[in-house]
Amino acid sequence: YSLKKYNTFGIEAKANYFFEFESQLELIHFLKNNSLINSSYLILGGGSNLLFTDDFNGLVLHPNIRGIEIQEDGEESILVKVGANENWDEFVAWSVKNNYSGIENLSLIPGAVGATPVQNIGAYGVEVQEVIERVDAISIETNNLVSFSNTQCEFDYRNSVFKKEYKNLFVITHVYFRLSKTSKFKIHYGAIEEKLKSYSEINLRNIREVIIKIRKSKLPDPEKIGNAGSFFKNPIIPKEEADILKQKYQKLPIYPMNENESKVAAGWLIDQCGWKGKQIGNAGVHKDQALVLVNLGNASGSEILNLANEIRKSVIYRFGIKLEMEVNAI
Ligand code: EPU
Repeated sequence: YSLKKYNTFGIEAKANYFFEFESQLELIHFLKNNSLINSSYLILGGGSNLLFTDDFNGLVLHPNIRGIEIQEDGEESILVKVGANENWDEFVAWSVKNNYSGIENLSLIPGAVGATPVQNIGAYGVEVQEVIERVDAISIETNNLVSFSNTQCEFDYRNSVFKKEYKNLFVITHVYFRLSKTSKFKIHYGAIEEKLKSYSEINLRNIREVIIKIRKSKLPDPEKIGNAGSFFKNPIIPKEEADILKQKYQKLPIYPMNENESKVAAGWLIDQCGWKGKQIGNAGVHKDQALVLVNLGNASGSEILNLANEIRKSVIYRFGIKLEMEVNAI
């Protein structure tokens, strides 16, 4: 079963079995008849955050659950239940069109709604954890429906319980978002505020438009050039180390995390090592954003991984910082 159209890197990889389901009941029924404990399986949503380095020897589970349903319609906010396989950006467009705020800064992020809590997607000063109220998932082990509160999701920078102790143990079927009817804009990140000056007013539609413009100017469209967004996480290092680096490299972008830790821009580190626009075989570093690796045409997953390893080596050599992958290598 070819997985090429199920991963935004556009890597050709095959799976032995593929199961697509459209409801929780359909999945529960399947799990009752086919226990997956001790077998090899992969939960595959929009495929926008993974890299196949080989064929997948096992079963792929693909949730095809749809639907955008308002559960509570209050004075100030709504609670909306969204099926895991709704396209994320179409959901953002829906919210902006209906004047519900909270996710407009997350416009144009590729992928499916069900994957957004897993890595707590974030961009332009907003993380999806700020609007997620609950996540419904089916346990692979017990076949039961479990509802996770926001706290139980253990959200963190590009991380959650679904990437840690519950990795691969739950199939997310629905995500509940709390969106606001009174617009509280977050426009202080980067060039957003500046770019909004050419509009007659600040509203959700204009913020979405500005964000889409910024993303299009830096990030490759996965429909045209295979990629999975940021390939590495921005490394979080001890504040003391960051301060020493900052003295040596005054232009290093640093974001304070807490008293003891700082996050530094991986894209800048990679760029400084001269990687922007470079290629090895069919794997490349995007010309406008060094944090994004691209498939320049028929690259294999191991070619991309090889490029990633070369990049890691040079960043360690130059800055002593170990880059961690943001993308899941399978
Ligand atoms: N920079 C360079 N050269 C580069 C890339 C970046 O010098 O090639 C510098 C920029 O000039 C800027 C800094 O590094 O000063 C940060 O760059 P940018 O604002 O583009 O954001 P980022 O830290 O590279 C993060 C997220 C993106 C998200 C943007 C915008 C991570 C791993 N990535 O990137 O998320 O869109 O901020 O908020 O946190 C993703 O996760 O897939 C993703 C695209």
